[in-house]
Amino acid sequence: MPVKTSPPTFNATRVAIAALTLVAAGCASSSSSATKPSLSIEHIMEDGFKGKESLSARIAKGQGTAEDFKKIAFLTEELALNQPPKGDLASWTEKTRALKAAADDLVAGKAGAVDAYKSAVNCKACHSVHKPD
Ligand code: HEC
Repeated sequence: MPVKTSPPTFNATRVAIAALTLVAAGCASSSSSATKPSLSIEHIMEDGFKGKESLSARIAKGQGTAEDFKKIAFLTEELALNQPPKGDLASWTEKTRALKAAADDLVAGKAGAVDAYKSAVNCKACHSVHKPD
């Protein structure tokens, strides 16, 4: 159930290519996405997303600082580098790339970036497909 709220730069072809790149990854390639994550998903969730006062929650409330934007861009990049513990990689790649793109727009100070971020950071949409319990 993809949420229809992708930022304008989001492009299905690029997502498909990114997904293929990740599938082919494990070894270094010319793509920047073929890197191993340095943080686990659990760590990223605890550090940036968990709870009402999390980094992500502050940003969604419009209270994020430039430092916060940089950190969320880093965390979402790390998230995208991880493999989902559950669900298929194409779906994971689509969701995490959209989130990373939204975080990059925050860093770039794009108009509407906070709203785009709020749409992209859909906890339930991701957890229902990718979070094991
Ligand atoms: C793009 C996907 C994605 C999004 C968006 C996402 N999560 Fe998660 N989250 C995961 C996955 C996958 C796990 C399971 C990690 C595992 O068990 O290895 C997880 C686990 C968690 C955990 C448990 C961490 C732990 O200590 O085991 C919490 C808490 C959490 N997420 C909170 C949130 C909140 C709050 C949001 C929204 C603001 C959110 N997540 C958004 C993918 C996501």
